[in-house]
Parts: sequence; structure tokens; C-alpha cells
Amino acid sequence: MIYLDNAATTWPKPNQVIEAVANSMKYYGANPGRSAHKMAIRTSEKVYECRELIADFFGLSNPANVVFTQNATMALNIAIHGILKAGDHAICTVMDHNSVLRPLFAKSPDVEVSYLGADGEGAISIADLEALIKPNTRLVIMTHVSNVCGTVLPVEAAAELCHNHGILFLLDASQSAGIINIDMQQMKIDLLAAPGHKGLYGPMGMGLLCINHNLDLNPIIQGGTGSYSKELAQPLELPDRLECGTLNLPGICGLAEGIRYINRIGIDTIGEHEAKLTAYLLDGLSHIKDISIIGKKDTLGRTGVVSFTHAKKDCVDISSYLSSNYSIATRSMYHCAYKAHESLGTSDAGTVRVSMGIFNTLSEIKILLYALKNMI
Ligand SMILES: Cc1ncc(COP(=O)(O)O)c(C=O)c1O
Repeated sequence: MIYLDNAATTWPKPNQVIEAVANSMKYYGANPGRSAHKMAIRTSEKVYECRELIADFFGLSNPANVVFTQNATMALNIAIHGILKAGDHAICTVMDHNSVLRPLFAKSPDVEVSYLGADGEGAISIADLEALIKPNTRLVIMTHVSNVCGTVLPVEAAAELCHNHGILFLLDASQSAGIINIDMQQMKIDLLAAPGHKGLYGPMGMGLLCINHNLDLNPIIQGGTGSYSKELAQPLELPDRLECGTLNLPGICGLAEGIRYINRIGIDTIGEHEAKLTAYLLDGLSHIKDISIIGKKDTLGRTGVVSFTHAKKDCVDISSYLSSNYSIATRSMYHCAYKAHESLGTSDAGTVRVSMGIFNTLSEIKILLYALKNMI
């Protein structure tokens, strides 16, 4: 199989991740933070080790501010519902995913929401963002990279602007974690939501919310922390305040190995590899009759998430053809980000999305281009 659906979840996972998941069930089988027996203590230490690794990876000073979640959607929901109160104003971009747009919509009309527009390549303007700020703006949320067309948004400038206005900045790093270097302190990012199962190469069912300083987020779920059992109220300290119930230990152990794997290869090397494949793909697509690349046409300011349309063929038919005839996995239609398609001019039928990972090769991209030419 030629797997080019890495924006949905990366596959395959590195062997060390698979081994860590299996070993976690042998050696870290106790419930951490509950009991005082040896295996429970060893498991708690393992969890803390993973928090330290993640904190270090994202430039976060306090490992206790790493909150494990089941995916990026849960992390975004915990942040959005935990911060915004009636009377607040929030800003997101039209390039954001439903995992941002829907929780924000659910908060309205108590919370007013403004949508920052994008151009035909998915790019946004910081001046436009500044113009949307109001005295009651509490939170700005932005995807780092569009999951539709791979455009990288100017999140550092946006975070700086928010910092200067005393507004919290929440980064959706779903398509950038593990692909672009992120230092939360240096970049003045208050909160970061990320999946563990995409560019960090951990298992599905893992996500993260990293909180840069002492913010009191109202928990959306309560109970099951293993701490302060006499108290009815949810503990105030992180991560217990926001982590409820038994943790996904196999997921945490796998994620730790995913991050070690990335650290060993280096994010810059991963970025360069994906850029090389992307350049080849963009060039090849630009020479196929009736195909239009959606978003940026070269590798500047983008990642290896590439969308295209065909003037005469339906995008679902293209993905089905690629899968049935060549075992090539791509994704079609709206990718949970319909507003992005309105800006990109693809709201009628969506796009075919090809997304790279570290395991993809140039020969696989060549086969994809050959398959597309053959189809036509
Ligand atoms: C930009 C963006 N945000 C959020 C999500 C949701 O991630 P998860 O599936 O881990 O909840 C995705 C998933 O594709 C995404 O691309």
C-alpha cells in the first residue's frame, strides 16, 4: 500500500512505537497515581518521563502543564470550553478545523465569534487579525498549518500580537507538531493542542494540551484523578485538574517513543524530506491536464499536505480509483474544514488530498503521478 493520508493519522508507525505500546502492557500495567505498589510507582514515573519529554519538545518549562487527552479535538475542546465565558469575544480563522469551529459555535451566542478570512491560497493577514480585536477579546485560536492545502499560517506574529493585547493564543498544532519546530515560550504561545497520532508518530487515541503558564481552565469533565479523594471539588493543580479517569498508558508510552524517534531524525530533516517529495509532486501535478493545485503552487510557506481538483472528475472517484487500482491511500472532499474551501474556491466538491509522512519515498510519488496520468 502507498499511504498518502498522513494528515489524518500517520502510518506506518515506527517499530519502536509499536514495541513500546506492547511493552507498556507487560511492564506498566498498573494504574498510575492511585496505588503505592511497585508497578504503580514505576508506571507513574513512566508517565512523568513522557510529560518531561513533551515539555522539552515544545519548549514548556513545567512538565505538569502537559495534559494528556484522547486526540487534538479533545484538547481543543478542553481549552475552548475551559477559557471562554459568557460575554467574551473569540477569534479563529476560516482555515480552522471543525474541532475548533464547532466548540466555538457551541459557545455562541454567549460568546461572540469572529472569523478571520483567508485568501485563495489559505494565507491570512496579521493586520486583518488586529482589526478584529475588541476590548472583550479573550482568545485567538489558529491552526498552524491548513489541513486542506498545507499553507503555514504566521502564528508567531499572531501570538506576539495577542501577547501585546493581553489576549490568550491557542495554537492548533495538529498539522505541524513533529514537522515544524515549535517553542511555546519563545513563540509566546499560551496553549497548544496537538494530536499524538499524526506528526508525532504515536498511536491513535492520543492527544495533548500544553499550557504555558498558570491559567485556570474550567474543567469540562470531572473526577477520577486518584488525588484529593476526600474533596468533592476537582483538584486545582495541573495535570489533575484537566485529566480525568484512567490514562491511556499504551498511548502515552507509544507517544514517548514517537517523540524520541523524531528527536533522533531531527525535525529539520523530516521537513526537508517532505519538502523534496512535495516539490516533486507539485511539479508533476502542474503538468497533468485538467488538474489544478489548490493553495500554494510551490514549496514556500507550505508543508506536504497537497490538495488538487480535476476539471472533469469527481474527487471521491479519483480517490476510489487510486485505492482500487494502485492501493494508493488519499482523502477526498472537505477534510472537516468547510470554511477553508470557501476561501480556496473548492466549496462545491472539495479536493483530493495527498499528505506526506517520513516513510514516503520519491518512487511512491512517481507511482501516484503515473496513476493519475493513466486515470485520465
Ligand atoms: C487542523 C486540525 N485540527 C484538528 C484536528 C483533529 O485532530 P484529532 O483527530 O486528533 O482530534 C485535525 C485532524 O485532522 C486537524 O487537521
